[in-house]
Amino acid sequence: MTEIGFDGRVAIVTGAGGGLGRTYALELARRGARVVVNDLGGSMDGRGGGSSMADAVVKEIAEAGGQAVASYDSVATVEGGEAIVATAVDRFGKVDIVINNAGILRDKTFVKLAAEDLESVLDVHLKGAFFVTQPAFRLMKENGYGRLLFTSSTSGLLGNFGQTNYGAAKAGLLGLSNVLALEGAKYNIKSNVIAPTARTRLTEDLLGPMAEKLAPECVTPLALYLVSEACEVTHEIYTAGGGRYARIFVGLNDGWVKGPGEPATLEEVAANFASIRDPEGYVIPTSTADDLQKVGRVLKGDVSIQRPGR
Ligand code: NAI
Repeated sequence: MTEIGFDGRVAIVTGAGGGLGRTYALELARRGARVVVNDLGGSMDGRGGGSSMADAVVKEIAEAGGQAVASYDSVATVEGGEAIVATAVDRFGKVDIVINNAGILRDKTFVKLAAEDLESVLDVHLKGAFFVTQPAFRLMKENGYGRLLFTSSTSGLLGNFGQTNYGAAKAGLLGLSNVLALEGAKYNIKSNVIAPTARTRLTEDLLGPMAEKLAPECVTPLALYLVSEACEVTHEIYTAGGGRYARIFVGLNDGWVKGPGEPATLEEVAANFASIRDPEGYVIPTSTADDLQKVGRVLKGDVSIQRPGR
């Protein structure tokens, strides 16, 4: 098997002072990347801050013979995102890889959710990914190379009780990644999403007896593969945890067709609902064009997909 290296590559890992991000930073550096270890150093609900978490990881990397620089900026502001990218450029001259990984939790059931719990979670996960990725993307475009990874969660992609704020932010990252995959395609910028499961400070009270086998290091290889030069895929979603590596995808079925440009009645929708929701024969779309193409076929008179009452 060919070894996958990161020699000459410059990587930014946000939230790399602990948990999953720390393992990404250590392994990237071990494999030759120069790494910006970004971490605000606050509590898991996003309060406070400090330099010790990022510093400790930079020290670990240096002691193992790798190259890294600490950044204590918050991803949650435009200035913070720009400063993180500027750290990479000032110290290492460019940015090849961004792993958007910083995260916080403010779990509450929907009825109890305060506006502040929504804003802080959207700020770190969703807006934070915009703020760090945008200045990096501009440089990647100029350089004709980039690898972006966004950290989503099954809580957003699939749903998890008590996490509306977090789930919405995490699902929003899928939209961001999908569009960047398209905008980055001709510049050799790949953009993918990972939904990890690992024992970290965010999850230690939630995973129960499974926690023992859910080391963050089990997620690291897939995350790093997705930001490696060897990675050819873009616009995709993967999940990793406990030694299992898998793909999640959004599927699009053929649906049911009334007729080209013909609106159905509510009753016809009800009568054909089984066909409308039948996943049989689904495809995995690579952009909105795949959906439009199916509509286009119908408008051109191809109603062979599924006729009324079939
Ligand atoms: P963690 O709490 O160990 O890591 C998150 C890091 O982000 C912390 O070190 C924290 O200081 C940093 N951070 C928080 N706000 C920041 C900000 N504004 N700017 C810069 N850094 C900031 O937790 P973990 O589990 O390693 O989480 C990493 C990512 O994985 C998060 O995005 C999380 O939502 C996601 N995730 C984790 C899962 C798990 O099972 N551990 C499951 C699904 C998603």
